Amino acid sequence: MIVCVCKSVSDRTIRSSIADGVDSFDELQFELGVASCCGKCEESVRDVMLQSGVCASRCGVGIEHHPQAVPLTFYERKAA
Ligand code: FES
Repeated sequence: MIVCVCKSVSDRTIRSSIADGVDSFDELQFELGVASCCGKCEESVRDVMLQSGVCASRCGVGIEHHPQAVPLTFYERKAA
């Protein structure tokens, strides 16, 4: 499924990058270009990160190592 329409990035590509060691939203944004155009995919990218066991906040720490559980609805939104 395409997550980022602007850059044609699928959830499979995001998961592959995470499996290759990308562990923060900023890195995904740099490596794949997600959420770097219209930005509407940011929440979906963070959902894929969370489903892949990576903290969806900007800390880049694996969710299993996070000192506090991050609620599924927690997102740090970038200012428009
Ligand atoms: S849908 Fe990802 S930047 Fe527009």
